Amino acid sequence: MKINKRLKTVGELVDTNSFCLDIGCDHALLDIYLVENKVVKKIVAADIAIGPLNCAKENIKRYHLEDKIETRLGDGLETYTNDIDTIIISGIGGRTIIGMFKYKLSTIKNVKTIIVSPNNYQEDIRRFFNHIGFYIQDEKLVKDGKIIYQAIKFVRGKKRYLKSDYFFGPILRKNKDSLFIEYFKKELASRLILIDILPKNYRLKRYITKKQINMIKKELNI
Ligand SMILES: C[S@@+](CC[C@H](N)C(=O)[O-])C[C@H]1O[C@@H](n2cnc3c(N)ncnc32)[C@H](O)[C@@H]1O
Repeated sequence: MKINKRLKTVGELVDTNSFCLDIGCDHALLDIYLVENKVVKKIVAADIAIGPLNCAKENIKRYHLEDKIETRLGDGLETYTNDIDTIIISGIGGRTIIGMFKYKLSTIKNVKTIIVSPNNYQEDIRRFFNHIGFYIQDEKLVKDGKIIYQAIKFVRGKKRYLKSDYFFGPILRKNKDSLFIEYFKKELASRLILIDILPKNYRLKRYITKKQINMIKKELNI
């Protein structure tokens, strides 16, 4: 089974032999890939909507993996059970992901690893998971088509970060490869447009955007 570069990159962050819950599995292609490549022995593919979950079931059946991939219908952590040690969430908005965990911290006592590839609000995601007792063990950037995605692996433990670490990603900024430069040049360009069109009375938004522009220029040395 071949999966796209984005999902493959998320899969690379999964530890061998972990018991995973993939929240928002949709087609369950990542889960099939992880089992077929012997990264995980068993995995739960979960989704809030019946349509995607039925699609997941069909794919799992096609690959004869019903004994290795269990499907569950539910919202966020509703599908979590205590035997799961790793949670994967990709292709969902950052604030939706934070909302899933916010008042459910006692539920995930057995979780050692959380792997996320949010559509947006990556800075908020880093700050939130660090605040609830996870640090960033690994991070990756991947370009799939025209879009560059971030994938972040959190594990339990404490680490202090600078504001710029939350914004750029502590490991991404340390590596500072060509994808990093391309990604943040685009972020800079969109903010320069935004600052031009934002009404003068949007003071807070203008202030934050200007700070981010300066931060990116400093980081990229431009
Ligand atoms: C864009 S798809 C991403 C699919 C796959 N994870 C990927 O990265 O390609 C988002 C999926 O998340 C599901 N979803 C959205 N909110 C959810 C929630 N609160 N709990 C569980 N699944 C959710 C949607 O139904 C949809 O199938």
